Amino acid sequence: MSSRFPIPMAILIAATALLSSPWQSSASLAAPVPAPIDPHEARVELGRRLFFDPLLSGDRTVSCASCHKPEHAFADTVAVSPGVSGRLGTRNTPTVMNTSGRTSMFWDGRAETLEDQAVFPIENPLEMDLPLDEALRRLNSDPGYAEAFRVAYAGPATARTLGRALAAFQKTLDTTDSPYDRYAHGDDAAIDESAKRGRLVFIGKGKCAECHSGEDFTSDRFRNIGLFNRVALGDRGRGAITGDPADDGQFKVPSLRNVAVTAPYMHNGMFATLRQVIEYYNNPDKVVPDAHGRDASITGPLQLSAAEVDDLESFLVALTDDRFAAAADTAVRR
Ligand code: HEC
Ligand code: HEC
Repeated sequence: MSSRFPIPMAILIAATALLSSPWQSSASLAAPVPAPIDPHEARVELGRRLFFDPLLSGDRTVSCASCHKPEHAFADTVAVSPGVSGRLGTRNTPTVMNTSGRTSMFWDGRAETLEDQAVFPIENPLEMDLPLDEALRRLNSDPGYAEAFRVAYAGPATARTLGRALAAFQKTLDTTDSPYDRYAHGDDAAIDESAKRGRLVFIGKGKCAECHSGEDFTSDRFRNIGLFNRVALGDRGRGAITGDPADDGQFKVPSLRNVAVTAPYMHNGMFATLRQVIEYYNNPDKVVPDAHGRDASITGPLQLSAAEVDDLESFLVALTDDRFAAAADTAVRR
């Protein structure tokens, strides 16, 4: 049976993962799933299955989705996510949505591509804690996976095809259906007056767009916004990768798409709400008076009024894809 119908079997399992994912559109749940003819589709489905499979962790309890939760735009709801046996890392789990256009991965950019990034969490003892060799052995000794890799990549699971499959799936997670997108495409009524004023604060008085620019609101650069003081805030970020002290305290400028549903915020998860983030930028010295190497564009109090803080928050919420609209509403209700 499995040799006669190998593809539908793999797809069936992927479809099960789909059914349990509330963020999926109902279109994909309709009608029997046809066999993929397109190798790209086979790669995406394989990557989807891998992403949700705890088989990739040492004790088979943790999947990529344990930390990158679909209903929170593939981010986590805690400052620091637990890996196998509840072990904690030191950094906040970022969204993996809208990563197809990124030029570096991780808060410190230590991986360059989605393809290369994938083996890091699998091998990380604090996350999935599974040596790569063992991961590949498990996959290649599983008839369903062996067949799915053969169909997708004409060969067994290797470090390269594992990374490519996970990347293929994650590249399908770009979001472009937010009220802001409709506004930017000419629908003036798509966002309310507060969000419109907030947009002006974002590009003007708030100076946010100096770093959060482009269609995903990230310049793909590393900057130090002042959350590094060499003491309690001791993560050197980019500096630990390049070895250059001038890079200490620099972190990747994160995309702001769907940011309303990815709390808590920053590389260490230190801010619980968007409002706290905005209040930080409004008066950084009040929160971290002894920052080391803070970016010259973040000089001192922005002097945003309470109304401008509200407006900026409305603008950030307008960057939420429609599939997360209800969650965003709950997250920022005040
Ligand atoms: C235990 C929680 C955990 C698990 C499990 C996990 N991640 Fe992550 N992920 C993180 C954290 C934390 C970071 C940020 C780490 C850093 O920057 O140093 C991250 C970063 C990433 C990034 C970089 C995103 C960006 O914009 O820089 C990608 C992509 C990613 N993970 C994909 C995956 C994939 C694929 C898997 C499964 C193979 C996975 N993660 C498993 C917690 C997790
Ligand atoms: C000098 C560049 C720079 C400027 C200016 C800037 N940001 Fe940021 N932003 C960053 C960096 C870098 C991070 C990540 C910092 C960290 O984790 O230590 C960040 C993080 C954030 C986050 C958290 C996102 C997440 O997923 O955790 C939000 C929200 C945000 N910025 C909004 C804004 C707003 C609103 C403004 C304007 C008031 C602004 N930023 C101005 C560079 C900048």
